[in-house]
Amino acid sequence: MKYNALKGVHDIFPPDSYIWQKIEKTARDIFAVYGFHELRTPIIESTDVFIRSIGETTDIVEKEMYTFNDKAGRHITLRPEGTAPVVRCFVEHHLYNLPQPQKFFYSGPMFRYERPQAGRFRQFFQIGAEAFGVVDPKIDAEILSMLKVLFERLGLKGLHFEVNSIGCEKCRPDYKKALLDFFAGKIDTLCPDCKRRYDQNPLRILDCKVDACIQLRNGAPHVTDYLCGECREHFDTFLSFLNLLGVPHAINPNMVRGLDYYTRTTFEVTCEHLGSQNAVAAGGRYDRLVEDFGGPPTPAIGFAIGMERIASLLKASDSGAVPAPKVFVALLGAAAEKEGLVVADKLRDKDIWAELGYAGNSLKSQLRRADRLAAEYVLIIGDDEIASGRLTWKRLTDKTQGDMAFSEVYDFFR
Ligand code: HAM
Repeated sequence: MKYNALKGVHDIFPPDSYIWQKIEKTARDIFAVYGFHELRTPIIESTDVFIRSIGETTDIVEKEMYTFNDKAGRHITLRPEGTAPVVRCFVEHHLYNLPQPQKFFYSGPMFRYERPQAGRFRQFFQIGAEAFGVVDPKIDAEILSMLKVLFERLGLKGLHFEVNSIGCEKCRPDYKKALLDFFAGKIDTLCPDCKRRYDQNPLRILDCKVDACIQLRNGAPHVTDYLCGECREHFDTFLSFLNLLGVPHAINPNMVRGLDYYTRTTFEVTCEHLGSQNAVAAGGRYDRLVEDFGGPPTPAIGFAIGMERIASLLKASDSGAVPAPKVFVALLGAAAEKEGLVVADKLRDKDIWAELGYAGNSLKSQLRRADRLAAEYVLIIGDDEIASGRLTWKRLTDKTQGDMAFSEVYDFFR
């Protein structure tokens, strides 16, 4: 019997896991100075949490959710994204009663039943952040600047920030009407999904991935031409703050994003060194979602980063070197086996990474292992060393060596 991981999911192991740790640590360090606190939500939620927020006519809800009934017949979904669960949590625990803004970050696996390809998986990891309670476009700019700082600190190159505003419930009806007019003569040539979307949610036609629909939307009206006064001002101020903070960006009036909850600001960060799945992060405002979930009106904005895509970019420039032990304790003889176990134990207690030789391995093969691990030092303990009370140390990096009393070992490595 041979078992393999399921299609579209993958294992992460060294050295790649060190790249993942680096991304997570860098993100955490940066979130800390922007005042984002960690929030952990379950991987499963009621299916309604996603239908209600992401939208019934989106690809995610229509085609991609891992949904099942549990033994009590409840409709359950493996989270396809992190924003809806965070909003559910925010409302359920009345976090809106705390002084605003409330800023959170999260990380973990998401699940979408998509056709797997380079950069697109069925289980993928996101690091996301969400800020609640601020309508001021300063926070929109802060969020993009935070992403820029994060990607710079990770050393990523060739990134492009695309921004848009998709308006609010006041300007949306006019824009929808313009879209309906534009597509009216083309309905017959739209894909079957988009024929349905034409009646239900025409904005979704702009996000369809079918080639014919992509062609048909050439020349479609731009949402930015239909913004109401307040949305226009919000967008312009946001753009001026991006300039102030030195976040280079392009306006992409076709970017409507694949989730229905967005209002006003939307953005995507793409990387020219990736293939067709080139978005490394994306997000936007969702000023109505908290209210839709039964909370008080609360503006909000956030983003999610695709971990696999960032990791694949870093892999090209960073080998994800596995860290090396400080000390390898090589042992020869029965008495040394015991003495070495104690020495390694005490070193570890002092936070010094020590590896140990094991019975049945010759000194030569132990030294080979020390070399392979790239240990900085080797300590050699044998019968002679135990009899004399002094052990031999070798520094593999510069080939120096010497000896010391057993009692000196801990000070030596301090
Ligand atoms: P999203 O655009 O669906 O937005 O996903 C965000 C990022 O997750 C994408 O840009 C991409 O890097 C990564 N991603 C998405 N799907 C896959 C996949 N199948 N395989 C690999 N990576 C993937 C959201 O999820 C929103 N919740 C973002 C947000 C947060 N908006 C506001 N707050």
